[in-house]
Amino acid sequence: MTRLMIRDFVVLKSHLDPAAQAGLIEALRPVLKAAPPFSPQTPSGKKMSVRMTSAGALGWISDRTGYRYAPQHPGGQDWPAIPDPVLRLWAEVTGLERRPDCCLINYYGEGARMGLHQDKDEADFSWPVVSVSLGDDGLFRIGNPTRGGRTESVWLSSGDVVVMGGPARLSYHGVDRIRYKSSRLLPRGGRLNLTLRVVT
Ligand code: SIN
Ligand code: MN
Repeated sequence: MTRLMIRDFVVLKSHLDPAAQAGLIEALRPVLKAAPPFSPQTPSGKKMSVRMTSAGALGWISDRTGYRYAPQHPGGQDWPAIPDPVLRLWAEVTGLERRPDCCLINYYGEGARMGLHQDKDEADFSWPVVSVSLGDDGLFRIGNPTRGGRTESVWLSSGDVVVMGGPARLSYHGVDRIRYKSSRLLPRGGRLNLTLRVVT
């Protein structure tokens, strides 16, 4: 395990060992069944290349109306609860008693990516955001608190955890590409990213 600090982003390399990674996948299985991942549209009408769903009291959604948190899956059901091992991981890396309201689950299949963006649909930016990488490697790009400027990239591998707090909380970030089938954690390949956030 190595702790990197890249522009105030704390990158915990290999924070989760293979058994812990497999345990998270197991815990996520019923969540993905109850709240099947969907391909959201951006407000401008483009289909996002990642598929997503959520667990927790609130889920993050995007459609022609805009980006927002919603209490239900587009299918009409409540989001499933955030699995205990995920909550324990949040408590462990943040030291906070407050639990996250949302665990966004992004699935990157072959060719999927995520453009540079800020996480800014939450009420209070003093809470950190925690991101967990599972499965294939993803090239994570880190920018600045304002649009533009130089960026730095780091490959995130299965078991890596990133904490975005302080000045990093509102910094631009994205995923340029994945190395499809670089990991064998997910039988069909791809990358799962969990993003934990306090929303309200
Ligand atoms: C995100 O910022 O929504 C996802 C980041 C990642 O997939 O690592
Ligand atoms: Mn983000």
